[in-house]
Amino acid sequence: MTTRIDAILGDITTLNVDAIVNAANSSLSGGGGVDGAIHRAAGRELLDECKNLSGCATGDAKRTSGYRLPAHYVIHTVGPIWRGGEHHEAELLASCYRRSLEVAAETGNIRSIAFPCVSAGVYGYPLEAAAQIAVTTVRKVAPEFPQIVEILFCCFSEQMFRYYRRLLATA
Ligand code: AR6
Repeated sequence: MTTRIDAILGDITTLNVDAIVNAANSSLSGGGGVDGAIHRAAGRELLDECKNLSGCATGDAKRTSGYRLPAHYVIHTVGPIWRGGEHHEAELLASCYRRSLEVAAETGNIRSIAFPCVSAGVYGYPLEAAAQIAVTTVRKVAPEFPQIVEILFCCFSEQMFRYYRRLLATA
């Protein structure tokens, strides 16, 4: 069976999927943007679990429970800060998607997962380029993890939703 890869418009903290991905920072101590929204919705226990993970390197991903979220798990990944594009940003961003799917697959019972547009907010990655890397990487990596049957790109604006829809419409 091929994985369903799709874009939806909405707030990732409300999604009924097995796992949501958080665009975190390397300290895993919470922050603004989607990170702040996820911590607020999950509750204090999420921060307590994150504190025991010893942070996360840029391009890597680590898993926690979802606590009060509808999602059972949160996969925290750390995107690169955009510094003009000559500092391995594209490679590191692609690694976020690959590692998040690897960690999800290792968990064993994650069949559906939703991603925000990692690095495209506070970290300043140009939105269209970030969306392109997200779609290209997920399409490339998904066949390695057939247990994950649904991968969603959760878009927080109409503009972002349009970019993803256009990218997903091209073979
Ligand atoms: N649901 C889905 N997408 C969202 C939501 C939401 N509830 N809220 C924001 N977005 P950002 P980054 C989108 O800034 O650029 C934090 O402080 C948002 O529109 O959350 O990777 C961390 O602690 C944007 O498209 O993450 C780090 O310090 C995307 O999520 C830093 O920000 C990512 O924007 C990480 O920056």
